[in-house]
Amino acid sequence: MKKDNLTMETIVSLAKRRGFVFPSSEIYGGFAAIYDYGSYGVELANNIKNVWWRNMVQLRDDIVGLDSSIFMSPKIWEASGHVSGFSDPLAECKNCHSRLRVDHLLEDIGVEADEKMTEEEIQKLFDKNKDKLKCSNCGKSDFTDIKKFNLLVKSNLGNFTEDWNKEPVYLRGETCQGIYVNYKNVLDSARVKIPFGIAQVGKVFRNEITARQFVFRTREFEQMEMQYFTLPKDEMKEYEKLKDYRWQYYLDLGIKEDNLRWLKHKNLVFYAKEAYDIEYNFPFGFKELEGVHARGNYDLTQHSKHSGKDLNYIDPVTKEKYLPHIIESSVGVGRTLLAVMCDAYTKEEVNGETRVVMKFNKQLAPIKIAVFPLLKNKPELVKQAKTIFDDLKMKYMCEFDDNGNIGKRYRRQDEIGTPYCVTVDFDTIEKDNSVTVRDRDTMKQERVKIDDLVGYFSGKFKC
Ligand code: GAP
Repeated sequence: MKKDNLTMETIVSLAKRRGFVFPSSEIYGGFAAIYDYGSYGVELANNIKNVWWRNMVQLRDDIVGLDSSIFMSPKIWEASGHVSGFSDPLAECKNCHSRLRVDHLLEDIGVEADEKMTEEEIQKLFDKNKDKLKCSNCGKSDFTDIKKFNLLVKSNLGNFTEDWNKEPVYLRGETCQGIYVNYKNVLDSARVKIPFGIAQVGKVFRNEITARQFVFRTREFEQMEMQYFTLPKDEMKEYEKLKDYRWQYYLDLGIKEDNLRWLKHKNLVFYAKEAYDIEYNFPFGFKELEGVHARGNYDLTQHSKHSGKDLNYIDPVTKEKYLPHIIESSVGVGRTLLAVMCDAYTKEEVNGETRVVMKFNKQLAPIKIAVFPLLKNKPELVKQAKTIFDDLKMKYMCEFDDNGNIGKRYRRQDEIGTPYCVTVDFDTIEKDNSVTVRDRDTMKQERVKIDDLVGYFSGKFKC
């Protein structure tokens, strides 16, 4: 299928039908901008996180991991600028009272805008185009003035008073603040020296105004972030290296290069030296998948000022003392999952029939091997298939399936992207002690001796 023909409806429907992603709280009518991952979705998301972790931590001798808490001192969010400045431009439709993101309304009519613009800049664009803008809910063109709406989600954690709202504790709006405030701890405990990075994966919460585009933009999501601490004069050199590294990562994941592009930010937040997005060609167009940013020494300056702690680095050799500059790579797990699903989705004609197959990179595939007895009601076939399943599951995420006929099972495994299916038939028992292994992409089948199966698959899943 040509990429241009793929719609979000197709992906959303497959995701639900095959147990990748469910709308949250569905039996209660749903809960906007929140999603749950089903049995294959959680495997896919875990594989994405594991591949990221391997690439960003385990294969790097200059990056270490961290797992900081979702709740942190509210002072951190004041220091970072989130309490005063982490907001999106919002207008209300006077007719249906929908709350709308003004930069999205402008984008919909082809006017370039983003949430990083100042209030004045976006108000000017809004006023200039007011007549052309339409409410995405009711279609009317009557809006309130723009208000900036803060995205931090508040809670009453540890506050037992009625008016907790006056001194809220925030659910973190990005994971990297936990990295900045632990930078000294890591420096003092891990064997790292500048330049080095700290990586973490974790939940993030944002009060997004509009819930659109499935798991692309949600109010609860996971981020995979890496912050790299550099000598000030090396910041841009390291930034270029990080950009190359992150681009290669997506190619190694098997994402088609034509579906990726760089977008340079025109509107930089005041402290940023440079910022690029890696965009993916989603069914709704090229949109941000990951941000790669050069943040200067803003974060450590702020935390040093607000905490009163000296966060300077002292070079062990030259004794030079300075605040490191930071470059970051930041990407959402859900957004990666959506890109990976769109990229893998393939519809092809086979002998006059349509086959839908998710051609996931093998490392990401939720199920690596499915094992079937040819017939469900033949105990000798079932017993042998179970033995093979029990053996292979020690090494790979496997699935045993004896439902329906073999054609149906192949169709199901194709739709969840299982690279290999193993079938036990009568010849296995009576003749050759071999099984049929079917390849998801080529659909070629070959006989493999049961005793050789483990070795056969270790060749196939070599990374
Ligand atoms: N620390 C930098 C930072 O958080 P960001 O551009 O706000 O930067 C980084 O977010 C990445 O997090 C995005 O590129 C995207 O992959 C993901 N992301 C951001 N907001 C999201 C949302 N509401 N839903 C899902 N993923 C989101």
